[in-house]
Amino acid sequence: MILIDGPAELSGEIIVQGAKNSTLPLLAAALLCKGQTVLHNCPDLTDVDTAVRILEHLGCRCKREDHTLTVDNALSGCEIPHNLMRGMRSSIVFLGAIVSRCGEARLCFPGGCELGPRPIDLHISALEKLGVEISESGGCLYCRAPHGIRGAYISLAFPSVGATENIMLAAACSEGTTVIANAAREPEIIDLAEYLNRCGSRIYGAGESCVIIDGVKELTGCEHHVMPDRIVSCTYMAAAAVTGGSITLRGVETSHILPMLSPFEESGCQVRQLGGTVSVLAPRRLRAVKHIRTMPYPGFPTDAQPLVMSMASVGSGTSIFVENIFENRYKHASELQRLGAKIKVEGKVAVVEGVERLTGAPVQAADLRGGAALVVAGLAAHGKTEVSGTEYIQRGYEDIAGTLADLGARIREV
Ligand code: UD1
Repeated sequence: MILIDGPAELSGEIIVQGAKNSTLPLLAAALLCKGQTVLHNCPDLTDVDTAVRILEHLGCRCKREDHTLTVDNALSGCEIPHNLMRGMRSSIVFLGAIVSRCGEARLCFPGGCELGPRPIDLHISALEKLGVEISESGGCLYCRAPHGIRGAYISLAFPSVGATENIMLAAACSEGTTVIANAAREPEIIDLAEYLNRCGSRIYGAGESCVIIDGVKELTGCEHHVMPDRIVSCTYMAAAAVTGGSITLRGVETSHILPMLSPFEESGCQVRQLGGTVSVLAPRRLRAVKHIRTMPYPGFPTDAQPLVMSMASVGSGTSIFVENIFENRYKHASELQRLGAKIKVEGKVAVVEGVERLTGAPVQAADLRGGAALVVAGLAAHGKTEVSGTEYIQRGYEDIAGTLADLGARIREV
């Protein structure tokens, strides 16, 4: 549980952690590469621990020293059991790498997911185009590539991040050329391509909507620095915003922050970017964030929506949110209401009437970013807020309570 005694006024400097959503596909990619992969700036998170357990289960040796994770690839298995898949739904991204290396893969699926239905149809149909035969039984996916992976033209119906990564991982070592049309353009895709290309792959166009992969015979591991976590950056920026604070984030890739800047500007924050540094100076009272529509990159990210909803909850005026990426991504709204926020949700639209003051209360995190949004709101609330369900938050944040305490908040994790 995270206990917050608010309101806080944050000030100071922090260094932003490495990106969870980059680390997970990079660890899957390490399976493709002979020898050793060394990931620097690797965040210390439970989701990363789960990925490491998957690698170890598959025969790899992993060693963490501070923020450097070394993977010695000795892949010997091709199955991810149910208990490891349950830990992290995004372990689907291991499928492409395993089937490419072993010619077969078996993944057992857990049930539902905290963000509503999370289909994998795009992953499956893309892998089938690359020559993978896939069948499903008893909640497990059985995949075989009897003739190896063969390049293909794949047009994604939606620019899915995970499907784009899975295709890149499956096709990096393959016969022929693969073209992904309508590929996801998220910065994490670029990070993955940069790592793979340094290992010997030939991937062109990552970060654009058409990615071309010329298959190579083999890859050799290398050292790589994981990109900074743009959603974690947004989290601390939102924390500064709701508390009328002034903070500086270091180690940020400022171009990744651009799609998230509009609500900070709309609400009256001054955001200054210089090199890898972002400073946020918030007004005493925020204004409304106005209109947020989540979109694939370079649109406003769905992962930042809950955080900005906490800002809107205390901004003067009305803000409107349209969640276009995931169903069921407003679970934090009812918890914010417990703190006194005025939010109406109707399908994918949420209307937030900003209130002058939130009041501390017990609240329950139901997913990672929604949980972080409750912590952010708790910093603005008067009195004591208890956030439970912190296991969700630990999936993506390295010691959020300690970091906020360093910035001056009265907060601790028990
Ligand atoms: C990744 C991120 C997640 C982020 C999301 C969108 C990781 C580990 N997670 O998730 O934090 O919120 O991108 O930016 O990187 N879809 C299908 N069929 C599929 C795949 C996806 O219909 O086969 C739909 C999903 O249900 C969702 C949308 O496409 O509605 C976006 O999903 P996707 O981009 O695949 O997200 P993830 O890769 O799961």
